[in-house]
Amino acid sequence: MTEIPGAKFTLAPFRLAILASGRGSNLRAVLESIQRGDIAASLVGVFSDKPACGALALAREAGVRTVALSPRNYPSRDAFDESLFNEIATVQPDLIVLAGYMRIIGENSVRKFEDRMINLHPSLLPAYPGLDTYARALADGAGEHGSSVHRVIPALDAGPVLAQVRVPVLPGDDAESLAQRTQAREHPLLVACLQALASGRMRLGLGLPTYDARPIMAPLQLTARNELEWAP
Ligand code: GRF
Repeated sequence: MTEIPGAKFTLAPFRLAILASGRGSNLRAVLESIQRGDIAASLVGVFSDKPACGALALAREAGVRTVALSPRNYPSRDAFDESLFNEIATVQPDLIVLAGYMRIIGENSVRKFEDRMINLHPSLLPAYPGLDTYARALADGAGEHGSSVHRVIPALDAGPVLAQVRVPVLPGDDAESLAQRTQAREHPLLVACLQALASGRMRLGLGLPTYDARPIMAPLQLTARNELEWAP
């Protein structure tokens, strides 16, 4: 990169909204891919529960519409979610991506967008839903770790898994080194999934997601060439 400032992110008809709470390395990967023409999508908004997070700063720098709401200004989780998802609805997204969005979304809001919302989770789901996945994998002596993209359902980190990337756990790894190795591969995983979804090769809906019109019974795997392939 990085010619992000001033670039046009709203040319393609497929409308992408991103939710983020963190530094925004996944958002950056998506912005760069749209800019290169690798993802045929418009980024129509970046939404956050953390007004000071890096992801929002990056979105602003890119000239993308941003909305940040503070949960502490709302009396309940549902009230916060309702406001945030009302904002999201105004941009009419075809797909909502939770890219490091660290807040649990209540069932009412999930249900409204259940056919079009995906999450990126740093483990080989169904292993290690929830937090601290790296430390937990290391404590178990796991030989490999990775990241998953799944459709969001009301249960945490539990929706159908679209695709995964695997990384080895190496001798001497700590949570930090394993996180770095995993995140370096998580970015191309997300980009490959967004390419597939924006092009219509991958489809969500409420049942099993499909890829090339075949149901995804086992998560697609990201190859070393950053392509998605069927699980063996
Ligand atoms: C990623 O590792 C993702 O798997 C997890 O939160 C992290 C977000 O990183 N859900 P970033 O904000 O995209 O840099």
